[in-house]
Amino acid sequence: SDIPAIIAYTRRTYIMNDGEIAVVKKDSIWVTDRKGNPITKKVFEVNWNAEAAEKGGYEHFMLKEIHEQPKAVRDTISPRINKENTQVVLDELKWTKEYVENFNKIYIVACGTAYHAGLVGKYYIEKLARIPVEIDIASEFRYRDPIIDEHTLTIVISQSGETSDTLAALKESKRLGAKTLAVTNVVGSSIAREADQVMYTWAGPEIAVASTKAYTTQLVAMFLFAMYISGLKGTLTAERTHELLTQLRLLPDEIGRTLEDVEPIKTFAKNYAFNDDVFYIGRSLDYNVALEGSLKLKEISYIHAEAYAAGELKHGTLALIESGVPVIAIATQKGVYEKTLSNIKEVKARDAVIIGIASEDDTELEKYVDHVIKVPSTDELLIPLLTVVPLQLLAYYAAITRGCDVDKPRNLAKSVTVE
Ligand code: M6R
Repeated sequence: SDIPAIIAYTRRTYIMNDGEIAVVKKDSIWVTDRKGNPITKKVFEVNWNAEAAEKGGYEHFMLKEIHEQPKAVRDTISPRINKENTQVVLDELKWTKEYVENFNKIYIVACGTAYHAGLVGKYYIEKLARIPVEIDIASEFRYRDPIIDEHTLTIVISQSGETSDTLAALKESKRLGAKTLAVTNVVGSSIAREADQVMYTWAGPEIAVASTKAYTTQLVAMFLFAMYISGLKGTLTAERTHELLTQLRLLPDEIGRTLEDVEPIKTFAKNYAFNDDVFYIGRSLDYNVALEGSLKLKEISYIHAEAYAAGELKHGTLALIESGVPVIAIATQKGVYEKTLSNIKEVKARDAVIIGIASEDDTELEKYVDHVIKVPSTDELLIPLLTVVPLQLLAYYAAITRGCDVDKPRNLAKSVTVE
């Protein structure tokens, strides 16, 4: 049900539609419809090479894919910004101002990591393009009778393009009259074929169950989309557009720099790999990244991990913080920085061990936390693409320390094609 499963053997595929039946023998393939009428299929050539589906010297696909992020992000960005860094060009959409202004509401629908990317996408679209966005988990959305009409745009995000709930949510949106846009990594996938329009993330095949490069490329796709519609609507000044696109272009190298010094992360992972619980806190975009960091840790290391909006701690979770509990605190968003610091102090007062994640120009956070991991400075809208990297590595090394099967965590599948 997912192309990466076979690219080590072939790149020539037939894409099967619903209701088609194939009879595969040693020397022949027959495809028919339900009534037995023959169907002539066209070969669909996958443009991923077999190497991309090998570990290439890395111990695990997950580690390889974490290290592929600079390239994946560069490939997703480069064809979509003009040379002068003044405009996002999405040839796949070719929308007009009138087309965008027809939408009075956007839904973003996805599952798991893709949902976490959607949370950041909502922030980008509302902040940059000033269109209200509602976000939902696909398995909730499909059954909740959402309010949709022809002025609604539904964006579904899916690495594989095969996730059953996301596909059903997409079909439901279409049925109710919304325009649909898929953000996916797999050309020819079911979701890509079903949506009215597609924006591909160019991450290359993602084999490890834990999504890493798909997430960062989804963030980039959402950022480009938000900048694109803001360009059409005229919600940003030319100066701010140029500033953001210039920072965006620098990101692949900055992700590369974030990957250079993994030793401290390995040490933290080893030190805390046998704790029963780990908490992640942050506000605004940092909270969205915290959610993704905690999912990475729980799915591959089986450590109980929870992410909280830092301001929510005192509404219950603070009761769980006791001496020695690791808390990972992300603090990069200027507008809420002081507030996050006071939440960190609350946690410190309960004697938690705090690992802070900050931008390299931050000289304050280290005064309040036990350890600090710094990432290159960039615009605070883009920093989630950097702060997530140490969290991916922490999860990876914690799982290794615990002897877990990193690429194939228990009970999980790469493509969730059943409900
Ligand atoms: O292929 P999709 O992006 O639709 O998959 C959605 C989730 O199943 C997926 O992101 C899952 O949460 C990952 N295992 C997380 O690492």
